[in-house]
Amino acid sequence: MQQPNWLVTGGAGFIGSNFVRSVRREARFGVVNLDKLTYAGHLENLTDLADDPGHHFVCGDIGDATLVDALLDEYRPAAIVNFAAESHVDRSILGPQEFIQTNVVGTHTLLQCVLRYWKSLDSSQADGFRFLHVSTDEVYGSLGPQDPPFTENSQYRPNSPYAASKAAADHLVRAYHETFGLPVLTTNCSNNYGPYQHPEKLIPLMIGNGWAGRLLPVYGDGRQIRDWLYVQDHCDALRLVLERGRAGETYNIGGDCERTNLDIVQELCRLLDQADPAGAPHTRLIAHVADRPGHDRRYAIDACKMQQELGWKPRVSFDAGLAATLRWYAEHPGWVAAVSAGAHERWLETNYGGRDPAAAPGAAG
Ligand code: NAD
Ligand code: DAU
Repeated sequence: MQQPNWLVTGGAGFIGSNFVRSVRREARFGVVNLDKLTYAGHLENLTDLADDPGHHFVCGDIGDATLVDALLDEYRPAAIVNFAAESHVDRSILGPQEFIQTNVVGTHTLLQCVLRYWKSLDSSQADGFRFLHVSTDEVYGSLGPQDPPFTENSQYRPNSPYAASKAAADHLVRAYHETFGLPVLTTNCSNNYGPYQHPEKLIPLMIGNGWAGRLLPVYGDGRQIRDWLYVQDHCDALRLVLERGRAGETYNIGGDCERTNLDIVQELCRLLDQADPAGAPHTRLIAHVADRPGHDRRYAIDACKMQQELGWKPRVSFDAGLAATLRWYAEHPGWVAAVSAGAHERWLETNYGGRDPAAAPGAAG
């Protein structure tokens, strides 16, 4: 590779693969993509980059210091973008250990390797170097209905093992800046949606179940609120933070688009009715099921710092993004089948098998 490189971790997952694709579209940076290919990571997310000489995929773990050291030595990256994580809250409730291993221990191993590498750079390379840690709004916990949105100064109050593991990683990243001077950046983003999102997350799950005429499982009363952002807007924001953000700073990224889960599912049903009139009305498939334990009621992001310092704001409206997402899933049945093979069916049984619709709050409504 002749261009400067970025080392992207978790680049075979949902957001990571969209990010790598957008970086390579501009072709100013080569990408070394380190991903463990867990149930959430798929080479099918990167098929269009298979012949790109500027994209180098490596299957491996961010917690493998020998491998990470070797990649840093070989490719001499100008930046690291850390997407690698266990990312699904429900999985963190059923099995938290993997979340601690990758999100906390793995991120820390990565930081140790990167610090060693950064110290070996000459001063002009070291000054320009950045470690961007991609984190979540879930570290801030849950908002009440009248609370102002989360800012970069909101208190950390993580409620799920996933959120706690991401919070721990954020603290380690911050500590490596304060203690060792490593030029880090942290972003805390709201819920993403769009192409290549794993079929077990809310929007793809509802699309897949809706097409197939299966039940649409809404946790509890479905009045929980999330702030939705189209994945390409997130990727654009990350590029700006990487290139123009101030080292040591945190940036909140969000869509200014609060919706209840029930709103989302009903809107998807409306779009499904248009695309598949024979299955209408898809709302008949909505089933309130037992709630997620510790379920955060509301997230909302104040993204003023992104707007004022970096001039970023989301470009894709929720209506346009949701319609494009539904279209993408409809046009990629082969991708859905490939990433769903085997393990996805087992997950559906594990997560939904014990949730009795009749016992769920909101079941009558
Ligand atoms: P994802 O689960 O789709 O992808 C995670 C990727 O990391 C997968 O490709 C997986 O194989 C890889 N991975 C897991 N453990 C690894 C390890 N030990 N070493 C190397 N690779 C490993 O997740 P996503 O939704 O794309 O999220 C990416 C990042 O963004 C995560 O850190 C997540 O916390 C954060 N985030 C996600 C959202 C969202 O709405 N999806 C919002 C804000 C922040
Ligand atoms: O807020 C950012 C976070 O958004 C990211 O950090 C996480 O990595 C990402 O997975 C996402 O977390 P959520 O828990 O919000 O996403 P999920 O798609 O699992 O659920 C969205 C909402 O929908 C949540 O309130 C739970 C609800 N839900 C989810 C599923 C899968 C249901 O009601 N039924 C379901 O079957």
